[in-house]
Amino acid sequence: MRIFLDTANIEDIRRGVAMGVVDGVTTNPSLVAKEGVEYRDRVLEICETVDGPISAECISTEADDLVAEARRIAAWHPNVVVKIAMTEAGLQAIKRVSAEGIKVNTTLIFSANQALLAARAGATFVSPFVGRLNDAGQDGMEIVRESVAVFETYHLPTQVLAASLRGPRDVTEAALAGAHIATIPPAVLYQMVQHPLTDTGIERFLADASKYTPV
Ligand code: G3P
Repeated sequence: MRIFLDTANIEDIRRGVAMGVVDGVTTNPSLVAKEGVEYRDRVLEICETVDGPISAECISTEADDLVAEARRIAAWHPNVVVKIAMTEAGLQAIKRVSAEGIKVNTTLIFSANQALLAARAGATFVSPFVGRLNDAGQDGMEIVRESVAVFETYHLPTQVLAASLRGPRDVTEAALAGAHIATIPPAVLYQMVQHPLTDTGIERFLADASKYTPV
């Protein structure tokens, strides 16, 4: 499973890249708004920092407008993946721009049927929002599991990008569900590194190592 960072914060992205585990980045209007920067400028900065798929979201709601916006955003950088929300107009736009070679991440996926439709329209990625489904009392990871199974059964090349993950256990569950990618907030990445037994183990080894001459 590949790991993307779900953030528009450039410092966190640099830190994740330095750790050697960041394969891509997903952004959305809410994440960019928090940074107080222009969307295009920040996406280009991210593209210079991470050599992998960088998702940038369209905000149009009509098919023709989505197509025009997707073309504009895709032209920013070869690594840009255009995010389009799962609507009827969105499907029309996905079909049209995918046929032109533009990579699409279909966002706001809340059922395996939505994932199937996006895949059939030509999306490169589908993003089930696991945490928001859990918030609504459903088993969010089940949508990931079902989408992966459907894509495998029908040999669909679309990748399942588990999104709206809120904690380290969600990442493990996404991997067990067969997600191709997990996009995670930086705080979750930092939590994944940690274990109290690792810390106490290091302390004990350092204490014992002080009893002989360092190599
Ligand atoms: O990748 C989608 C993500 O940004 C949404 O997360 O926590 O707002 O549901 P959340």
